[in-house]
Amino acid sequence: AERSLVLVKPDGVARGLVGEVVSRLEAKGLRLVAAELRTLTAEVAETHYAEHQGKPFFAGLVEFITGGPLLALVVEGPRAIEAFRALAGATDPVKAAPGTIRGDLALEVGENIVHGSDSPESAAREIALFFPNL
Ligand code: GTP
Ligand code: MG
Repeated sequence: AERSLVLVKPDGVARGLVGEVVSRLEAKGLRLVAAELRTLTAEVAETHYAEHQGKPFFAGLVEFITGGPLLALVVEGPRAIEAFRALAGATDPVKAAPGTIRGDLALEVGENIVHGSDSPESAAREIALFFPNL
C-alpha cells in the first residue's frame, strides 16, 4: 500500500482540530503508521518546503510552520497520497470545496490546517525527513 506524510499544521493543533482531521482520514479508510507532535526547526521546515524557496511567501511559510507544535503523521492505504489530497481540498481554503478539511474549516491560504505529500517522490522524501527510522 502507498504511504503519505500528513501534517496537522500549527494552526490546526492550536485550534483543537487534531481529532477532526484524524477522524476524517480514519473514516476514509487510511491507516495510521506513525504519529508525532513536534515543533519544527527552521532547518527542517526549509528542507520540507524546499520547492518553495525563493517565492514571496516562503519566509512567512517557514515562520508559520515553526510557530508551534504540529502533528506529523504517516498514513497508509491504496492511493493514500491522492486520497488524502482529496480530503484536504484545494490549497486556498476559499476555493476548497465544502466537505473537504480546508473547505469546511479554514479561510486563509497561509493557515490551511493540513499538509499532504503531492507525489510518491515527495512522500518518500518527506517521510524520510520526519521519520528517518520508518
Ligand atoms: P502543502 O500541503 O502545505 O504543501 O500545501 P499544498 O501542496 O496544497 O500547496 P503548496 O505546496 O503549493 O504550498 C505550500 C503552502 O504554502 C500552502 O499550504 C500554503 O500555506 C502556502 N502557500 C502556497 N501558495 C501561497 C500563496 O500564494 N500565498 C501564501 N501566503 N501562501 C501560499
Ligand atoms: Mg505542497
